Amino acid sequence: MRRKLAAGNWKMNGTGAALNELEALRTACPAPSVDILICPPATLLDRATRVVAGSGIAIGGQDCHAATSGAHTGDLSADMLLDAGASTVILGHSERREDHAEQNEDIRAKARAAMDAGLKAIICVGESLEQREAANTLDIIGGQMSGSIPDQSTGENLIVAYEPIWAIGTGKVPTLDEIGEVHDFIRARLERRFGEGVGRSVRLLYGGSVKPGNAADIFAVSNVDGALVGGASLKAADFAGIIDALQEA
Ligand code: PGA
Repeated sequence: MRRKLAAGNWKMNGTGAALNELEALRTACPAPSVDILICPPATLLDRATRVVAGSGIAIGGQDCHAATSGAHTGDLSADMLLDAGASTVILGHSERREDHAEQNEDIRAKARAAMDAGLKAIICVGESLEQREAANTLDIIGGQMSGSIPDQSTGENLIVAYEPIWAIGTGKVPTLDEIGEVHDFIRARLERRFGEGVGRSVRLLYGGSVKPGNAADIFAVSNVDGALVGGASLKAADFAGIIDALQEA
């Protein structure tokens, strides 16, 4: 059985005051039956870890460098994230792929570093609107998967997030059939590459405009094991609504 996961990506949002929302989330979800992860900006990792200590909420990073240390001004290693209390790191988010020109091989190297350090990696894949309209979605996802998922992946250290770029922060969501088609495809690819045991144990998240109002429908889709949530993870009440829907799924 795959344990369901509600992951929140705060992106470049939040200073110390935002920890009140984390505190409120902790209060709203005292004994969660699903995994909960919040990925705040790196400046809040250490403080966020303290806020959630002893709760069912885990903390994660939003990116890491592929090297373990060295002359990389402004970057953070996987070990540093772990040291600050992170259990997980998001890698290859489309905003990193776009803003920092990250390629599949960069993401694979980062994922190797994260897994070597003992972090779980949430590897993001997803098509642009243009690619979807040209009926290239599955080709694009397949290429991103083979390029960015490392060989050492297991059901324990790998989570895959399907995030159609055109659905992120836009309020637009694919149809449930479209989500199901991509998630079934990702599952089949993982089983083919890693064998049925590992392939079936990797958790698959959907991301892109998940809100309390659409979460239950999305969580009922086959091979959706949870969500990667941006905007709606910033407010405890909204994220708690999504967590409730996942607990009931
Ligand atoms: P959104 O972002 O929920 O604000 O659409 C999702 C994501 O980028 O992970």
